Amino acid sequence: MIEKINKIKEELAGLKAANAAEVEQLRIKYLSKRGEISLLMNDFRSVPAEQKRELGQKLNELKNYATERINALKESFAAQADNAAADIDLTRTATPMPVGSRHPLSTVKNDMLRIFAGMGFTIAEGPEIEDDWHVFSSLNFPADHPARDMQDTFFIARNPADILLRTHTSSVQTRVMEKTQPPIRIVCPGRVYRNEAISARAHCFFHQVEGLYIDKNVSFADLKQVLLYFAKEMFGAQTKIRLRPSYFPFTEPSAEMDISCDLCGGKGCAFCKGTGWVEILGCGMVDPNVLEACGIDSKVYSGYAFGMGIERITNLKYRVKDLRMFSENDVRFLQEFEAAR
Ligand code: PHE
Repeated sequence: MIEKINKIKEELAGLKAANAAEVEQLRIKYLSKRGEISLLMNDFRSVPAEQKRELGQKLNELKNYATERINALKESFAAQADNAAADIDLTRTATPMPVGSRHPLSTVKNDMLRIFAGMGFTIAEGPEIEDDWHVFSSLNFPADHPARDMQDTFFIARNPADILLRTHTSSVQTRVMEKTQPPIRIVCPGRVYRNEAISARAHCFFHQVEGLYIDKNVSFADLKQVLLYFAKEMFGAQTKIRLRPSYFPFTEPSAEMDISCDLCGGKGCAFCKGTGWVEILGCGMVDPNVLEACGIDSKVYSGYAFGMGIERITNLKYRVKDLRMFSENDVRFLQEFEAAR
């Protein structure tokens, strides 16, 4: 037994390992339950009583020595791992990561909202899945109005309360008027849906910003000034506006607004079809029937409303030829707007 103890001691003195895994192997070889030293401990039971004292001491020494040696090896590898971590060059420039850019429709929407916020308008939002009342009936649409036709509107369920995808964000205006007494001054951005064949010039969904102002003594002149200010902020100080009489069920009188074509400066070109003007929005004085339907006294209050497509404004600013590009998510298209972010 003494011999075995000495032999193991010698081995331990010259112990070497190439890595932490090898150290673990050595620990198993000597110190685990079935390791060489544990086996010696087992043998120790059958040693004659008079040798027990001496051998016991030696065995304990051996075990301590083995633990010491293996721990020392273990530590040397741990220190090496620390050194490897310290080798990282913290001053090196990071690997470049491609950064995305804002979608042009978001950029233009934010610009529009910022301009109206500057004139005291707050933002109001509402559901895209709506009912007939908020999209049509409350807004003075006659029962047989063509917009209520399946060909124009996506219906989700018909009768008793028709459920549909909103065709304009005027529905948000109704929701706000129902809950709030004037003064009301809001802009309603959001996605709207119309049942149209998808082409370069039409899509089954697009985005709008609509506005509503209701207070005492609101006049058409107020509307005109707000829209003129918006046009100049959006398209430049040289921009002119022109209002043409039009018709919407929810406004009376109603108008459509054109801005001077900034491609030809109003002289007439292919873009404005030779007229010098391009249409950008619909507007008018809120019909008293709409105010009454929403619980607002039309003898006390009056108001104006306007609505425009964000795609249309974006096209005028950036000349996007095909509407479909806005929703195809082709990064090459989106990258063109990085500077506009
Ligand atoms: N709601 C109309 C549309 O979707 C736009 C509009 C809003 C017109 C307000 C007049 C007044 O086309």
